[in-house]
Amino acid sequence: MSLPLDILIMAAGKGTRMKSAHPKVLQKLAGRPLLGHVLATAAQLQARSAIVITGHQAESVEQAITQLAKHTPAPAQVQCVRQEPQLGTGHAVQQAVPVLADDGLAIVLSGDVPLTQATTLQALIDAAGGDKLALLTVRLPDPTGYGRIVRGTEGQVQRIVEQKDANEAERAIHEVYSGIMAVPSRLLKPWLAQLDNRNAQGEFYLTDVVAKAVQAGTSVVAHCIDDAVQVAGVNSPAQLAELERAHQLRQAQRLMEQGVRLADPARFELRDHANGQSAALVCAQDVEIDLGCIFSGHVEIGAGAQIGAYCHISNAVIGAGAVIHPFTHIDGEKLGAQVGEAALIGPFARLRPGAELGREVHIGNFVEVKNSRLAAGAKANHLAYLGDADVGERVNYGAGSITANYDGANKHRTVIEADVHVGSNCVLVAPVTIGAGGTVGAGSTITKSTPPQSLSVTRAKQLAKENWARPVKQPKA
Ligand code: UD1
Ligand code: CA
Repeated sequence: MSLPLDILIMAAGKGTRMKSAHPKVLQKLAGRPLLGHVLATAAQLQARSAIVITGHQAESVEQAITQLAKHTPAPAQVQCVRQEPQLGTGHAVQQAVPVLADDGLAIVLSGDVPLTQATTLQALIDAAGGDKLALLTVRLPDPTGYGRIVRGTEGQVQRIVEQKDANEAERAIHEVYSGIMAVPSRLLKPWLAQLDNRNAQGEFYLTDVVAKAVQAGTSVVAHCIDDAVQVAGVNSPAQLAELERAHQLRQAQRLMEQGVRLADPARFELRDHANGQSAALVCAQDVEIDLGCIFSGHVEIGAGAQIGAYCHISNAVIGAGAVIHPFTHIDGEKLGAQVGEAALIGPFARLRPGAELGREVHIGNFVEVKNSRLAAGAKANHLAYLGDADVGERVNYGAGSITANYDGANKHRTVIEADVHVGSNCVLVAPVTIGAGGTVGAGSTITKSTPPQSLSVTRAKQLAKENWARPVKQPKA
């Protein structure tokens, strides 16, 4: 019979080597705080409770936990306990004892180890069963800095020795402790009470519970995995960057397994949106993604669509067969952005929240579209702005034209009915409607609605002064 699961997450450390004003567990990997990754993994384990141990900048960490729960998966019940001051990992877990039930299995995770998979943790939980201490370990080519797993003559785990306390022979051990263990709480609690800080760092080491377990005759099992990325901790910016790349490469590989063509999996990025929306890229068949693209939040790409190099696409739906040319920026934020089937976008286009583009719409270079619907076949190919506009089918919106949608206090809508041609360099001052089939002459400022099928021009008549001479500079006397 398996015990109910209680998750402990250590997140009180300062993370000195990050050299940051922010707590280490809030540093971001794939756009999500490290702690958010750990909470999301914990959520998959169907735990009865989760206890986060906070300390250094506890308030910001606790606020971040509340924020994270709005967007990303997290265990249903997350409770925080404070560790002040921070006297080591053993001391950290001691702080959770008063709120930790006796009848469960405790799994201890670190807030700075973001990429452990739920299946790995489940295997560790199974290894602990109802009566054992299970350690997640890994063999590293370079074990420097980690606690080493010391085994006896028959291979049984005896204790963990920290790098700073280890002798030469112990430092030569390549099997290291990941910082993750599972153990029945009723066994853990008395061992915690016996910890001392007589060691090189003067800290209460959680890792000392291993020797206590051996003394007590409890079996200690090591669940050794060979995937170092899953147990890698973040202590420095270099380690953070290294893990980011490992994570991105894994996401890229998963997409390629589904058939997505990535020009270079090493130059692909999928991360949470800055507003917290979880990262998800859903691709239909035959999607091609060129170098250097960044996707954030929820993005869907239809069959056969092509994403050009260096596009940044967030919270958006791209229709089948659409072509997004290089350097295009699409961010739907909360409202979302939609690109219709077979549409052509960019290069250098910008689609903002509420951009809804129909079939075969063309948006060219340096065109910005915000909160506007463009019906099938509408085109805005050069240097233009469409904000708060409803644009009908087959409209041609000229180079340099803009909708003046903001009067300084309120936003107003512009309606451009089907088959209108707006000439170059026009200003449509909203609220205004351009009647179907009409034409607006180049350089016009339109402040009143125009009738269907009409030509509207507001510019001054062109005049020519014949034989006119430019002023000439007089030479100085
Ligand atoms: C710890 C292990 C080491 C293991 C390594 C794996 C101990 C004594 N050592 O070492 O065997 O190989 O992790 O990454 O446990 N924390 C607190 N309060 C504290 C101290 C730390 O909450 O007082 C938190 C940190 O925020 C961090 C985690 O515990 O999330 C690990 O602490 P850290 O100082 O990084 O431990 P290591 O020295 O890496
Ligand atoms: Ca660490």
